[in-house]
Amino acid sequence: MVAKISSSLLPDNTTIHEDGMVAFAGIRADDLAKEYGTPLFVYDEAHIRQRCREAVQAFPDGVSYATKAFLCKAMARLAYEEGMGLDVATIGEAFVAIEAGVPAAKLTMHGNNKSYEELQYAMENGIGKIVIDSFDEIAKIEQLFSNGGSPIQALIRITPGVEAHTHEYISTGEEDSKFGFTVSTGLAEKAIDKASNLKAIELIGIHAHIGSQVFTQESFRKSTETLADLSNSFSLPELSVGGGLGVPYLNNETSISISEWGAIVGKVCEDRGVTARVTAEPGRSIVGSAAVTLYTVGTIKKLDGIRTYVAVDGGMHDNPRPALYGSGYETFLARSAASARQMPVTLVGKHCESGDVLVRDGAVPEDITVGDLLATPVTGAYGQSMGSNYNKVLRPAVVFVNSGQAELVVRREELTDLLNTDMG
Ligand SMILES: Cc1ncc(COP(=O)(O)O)c(C=O)c1O
Repeated sequence: MVAKISSSLLPDNTTIHEDGMVAFAGIRADDLAKEYGTPLFVYDEAHIRQRCREAVQAFPDGVSYATKAFLCKAMARLAYEEGMGLDVATIGEAFVAIEAGVPAAKLTMHGNNKSYEELQYAMENGIGKIVIDSFDEIAKIEQLFSNGGSPIQALIRITPGVEAHTHEYISTGEEDSKFGFTVSTGLAEKAIDKASNLKAIELIGIHAHIGSQVFTQESFRKSTETLADLSNSFSLPELSVGGGLGVPYLNNETSISISEWGAIVGKVCEDRGVTARVTAEPGRSIVGSAAVTLYTVGTIKKLDGIRTYVAVDGGMHDNPRPALYGSGYETFLARSAASARQMPVTLVGKHCESGDVLVRDGAVPEDITVGDLLATPVTGAYGQSMGSNYNKVLRPAVVFVNSGQAELVVRREELTDLLNTDMG
């Protein structure tokens, strides 16, 4: 017997109707599924706004939303309206943010291998800052500048040599990393010296991002200490601690809040006498628990003595995290959201791979049946954004719900979308 789904994993404005059906911001899950179909990403807009406000308070010198976690025009506008800048990692993310109406000056461009095209786009469109990741990038900027490009404000990304204690694929602050300039070998100092002496670059600070889904407070502390010491020795105006705050995905997990993370960073900077502005760029902690994905059960396969497979109409195309990192999720039946879940199941998708698992160790009530609506919580970050068209599956719609109203912010793909780029 597994306990009912923990309310802490659900969007803030989740309620349960008398008949047991879960509702988001006042709209029943079955009504959402009827109107928009499944799979469906449902985002609680007020929840996202609350997290944005918390971040703005926790980092009063400036905070950007890391758009890679989830980006569409409505999300870009929302984060900007709430006083955040936007962190973009490619020309594509920058384009969507600018198309959404976010001023380019509010964008920070990342990337360990920015192309000439991306750097030129940043210069021509007046992107606020870029975060420099390599000496080759500095050379590209110089070349573009000498060809008539405008100077650009920049931070240097450093690699502080800190273990993030997260999955190796999303750990980025160790010395063996493709990102940034290592501090311990002196490369970071060299990069700062080099960038400070170029007309093409106005060096405004240093940056570190140690990884994503980080729960270890000590890792944030250590990384901030390294940043603080380096920042103090060069007297640069900005110190960015990146993002990375972890969120719980399972009933038994807990994490610190955005405010607590801000307090840890603030304390280190205060203790070390940092005078630079201290900025951050959270993604997952802004949108992760704001969303659930709704699926329809298509088949139930009981393999006696082995396991029960429940297959739904989504899969690794809408949430590749379990396949990529072995990430754990919970699931629950939308019509009995407050019930204990007696039956262990493995929730799988519709792709031609055994690795197409959404929830390896899930549990549902025993009366689950084909046609039921299942929900997986905490799918707001790195689900839709990392999704694909594998098997030419159509990507799901995304709705924002708020005070009893649903807004379709990304429509479901149609078959003809699959031929958009096909020159056949
Ligand atoms: C440079 C940078 N900043 C911020 C983030 C956001 O991280 P998270 O979504 O874990 O907060 C990432 C994600 O990997 C990143 O690479």
